[in-house]
Amino acid sequence: MSGWQKTPFMIEVKAGQSKAFCMCGLSKTGPFCDGSHKLTDKMPEVVKFEQDRKIFACGCQQSGKRPYCDGSHNNL
Ligand code: FES
Repeated sequence: MSGWQKTPFMIEVKAGQSKAFCMCGLSKTGPFCDGSHKLTDKMPEVVKFEQDRKIFACGCQQSGKRPYCDGSHNNL
């Protein structure tokens, strides 16, 4: 991953795996946290996955369901 994009990121996760998703919008490795939030009052959303899944993580930072895509990128 190399930062934010206008479309969702399709990510494969494994059961038992945890991912820290950026919620501040400053990460250079979006959609994942890179620690840049330390300059803000935001915190990453850490999600532990119970099963192997493919997820669509928000790439445009406009989703109302971040860190997941809600289709908002289609209206940009
Ligand atoms: S870098 Fe954005 S929440 Fe950590």
